[in-house]
Parts: sequence; structure tokens; C-alpha cells
Amino acid sequence: MTEPLLEVSGLVKHYPLTRGIVFRKQVGAVKAVDGVDFALGRGETLGIVGESGCGKSTVAKMLVHLERPTAGAIRYKGEDVTRLSGKALKAVRRNIQMVFQDPYTSLNPRMTVGDIIGEPYEIHPEIAPKGERRRRVQDLLDVVGLNPEYINRYPHQFSGGQRQRIGIARGLALRPEVIVADEPVSALDVSVQAQVVNLMDRLQSEFDLAFVFIAHDLSIVRHISDRVGVMYLGRIVETGTDTQIYDHPTHPYTQALLSAVPVPDPEARAHRERIILTGDVPSPTNIPSGCRFRTRCWKARERCATEVPLLAVPEAFRTAGGPAAHPSACHFAEEKQVVPPETAPGP
Ligand SMILES: Nc1ncnc2c1ncn2[C@@H]1O[C@H](COP(=O)(O)OP(=O)(O)OP(=O)(O)O)[C@@H](O)[C@H]1O
Ligand code: SF4
Ligand SMILES: [Mg+2]
Repeated sequence: MTEPLLEVSGLVKHYPLTRGIVFRKQVGAVKAVDGVDFALGRGETLGIVGESGCGKSTVAKMLVHLERPTAGAIRYKGEDVTRLSGKALKAVRRNIQMVFQDPYTSLNPRMTVGDIIGEPYEIHPEIAPKGERRRRVQDLLDVVGLNPEYINRYPHQFSGGQRQRIGIARGLALRPEVIVADEPVSALDVSVQAQVVNLMDRLQSEFDLAFVFIAHDLSIVRHISDRVGVMYLGRIVETGTDTQIYDHPTHPYTQALLSAVPVPDPEARAHRERIILTGDVPSPTNIPSGCRFRTRCWKARERCATEVPLLAVPEAFRTAGGPAAHPSACHFAEEKQVVPPETAPGP
């Protein structure tokens, strides 16, 4: 990767857990994000995947300044944006935009599509002077594959897929360099998911955008991601290129997630092993000691309860190299092919 556009290090978000109404007392913390590191290059896509509640949206919100980190740094072009305020912050925020999960609730039903897409210009009038806005919005509608004449319609007049196109057009209005898409297709029918992913793929090359693409299903991000980070209970437990993660996973959690990915070929489906995880995800207020995955890991041993595995290339693969040599936070990392390569999942 060339100089990263966005670099996140030691990112933490703990929500205080309080008791009492008059005398509020902190009795613990929800460790929603508990030490996340990653880098994103220009024009690149990083997929972030993990089960519900693992902290994906909290990471997304911190990236776009909807939440303040408890600790850690978010560097945009080398500058820690968590320390910025005023004009400097406003300039950075313009460059990192978000597309939300649910196009049914994230668009204001009382505003026209034109007003929704053009709203960011109210905050940044320098990007589009008033007289030019209508034309800009119509261009954006065209870019996302919607009829520019729909500019005066309301959200309820559109299908789910079309609404997400409106959300994407709004995300593009300020010509950002980074788009953080938090489960942008999860609320859509399977049949339209691929269309929206393909649109995002096309826009990425057209506008040289970098994406953080969040999903809970590994099959959705493969098609669009250059690299993938797998999250569990507030941390990234394995990260690598799409080939490394899908064809050479070494962390038991990634292997379990992959074993649940739909495989279209019935022959391959019959031969692959399903790894069913037992037990529930522990509460982020009470994270297990040592490896946070150990309460559900079929390989857990004594060492896993006492020693925290770091996200690094496991020693076993360090000298040998090859596709298994990528960061994996497991003391006993081993390669295991879960998805047959020819039947690679994708929308
Ligand atoms: N404002 C808040 N106050 C307290 N806890 C919170 C807050 N926001 C999120 N959490 C908790 O932090 C954890 C992570 O939540 P987050 O929404 O980031 O997960 P997620 O991975 O996006 O899940 P999903 O797939 O369901 O969207 C959850 O346990 C959630 O309940
Ligand atoms: S460190 Fe231990 S518990 Fe954690 S993933 Fe590896 S084997 Fe499982
Ligand atoms: Mg979420």
C-alpha cells in the first residue's frame, strides 16, 4: 500500500455502565470497541465483518465523528483527526462520508429526494453554490442510476434498492475520498444486494474512492474487498487480502464464519465441513480473559485463558511465508480451507 489515506490505531470505545439516578455511579463499561488497528489506502476497500454486537457500527461512527473514541487515533493523511476541531475538523469530515444500513429509516420521509441529496451543501455551500445545486443533485441521481427527473419525489415512492442509491448519492455529494458503508445492503432483498454492490464497485473506480465496507456476512464483502478484517467482541482477530482470508484462514473464528457462507455448487456444498459455534457471544461488559474467543473456540487450551493473543503473523508461518502468513490473533493458528476455491462466494 502507498501512504495510507486513513490509519486507525488502538481505537477504543467504552460506554460507561452506570447505576442509580440521583447518585450516578459507574459500575463497569460496555467495551464496544476494544483496540482496533487498520489502514486504508487510496481507492482501496477494506471489508469489516463480524457477528451482531461485535462493534462494527461503533467503529464506523467513530470514523465519521458521530462518536468520540475513548482512546486511540484516527489519522487522515497523517493527521490525528480525533484532536481536530472547528474548521480543520469540518474539512476532514467532508472527506469521510457514511452510507447507512437501513435506507427505510435513514432518509427523512418529509424531504424530497433533491433536498435529501443536496442537504450536505447546506453545511458546505462552498462546494455547490445555491444556483448550481439542482443540477448537481440531478447529476448525482444519474450517477447512481436513478432518473434525474425524480428529484421532487419523496422516499416512499422508491423501492429499498432505489432508496439505498439515494443514500449513496447523498454520500457522494461532497466528493469525499472515503466512504464508510455500514451494512449498506443488509436490509435489501438478496436480488438487489448485488446490484447495489456492483454500483458501489463502479463508483469506486469512477471517483477513486476508498471504502470501509461493513457486513456481518463474509459472502457479501468478498466481491468488493481488497482486504478483510474479521471482528470479534470489539477487536479484529484476523486480517488479510481476500485470498488470504477466504482461501487460507488461520483463525478458528474466521473458519467458523466461512463455514456458514452459502456455497452455490451442490457437489462442493456436500463435501464442506460446517463448524457450528456453541454458546453465545459473551457480553462486551465482561470480556473473557486471555483470548476473547476462547469460550466458543473448539481448540481452546489452558494458555488461551491466560495469554492474550496479539494480532500478528503467527510464528508458524512467519518464515515459511505464503498466503497463510497474515495477521491472526490465535496462539494455535492453523490453515484450514473451509470454502472450496472454485466455488468462491460472491453476490
Ligand atoms: N450508545 C451506546 N451505549 C451503550 N452501549 C452501546 C452503545 N452503542 C452500542 N453499544 C453496545 O456496543 C456493542 C457494539 O455495538 P455495535 O452497534 O457497534 O455492533 P455492530 O457490530 O454494529 O452490531 P450489528 O451487526 O447488530 O449492527 C453492543 O453490545 C452494543 O449494545
Ligand atoms: S487463542 Fe486459543 S481460544 Fe483463541 S482462537 Fe486461538 S485456539 Fe481458540
Ligand atoms: Mg451495526
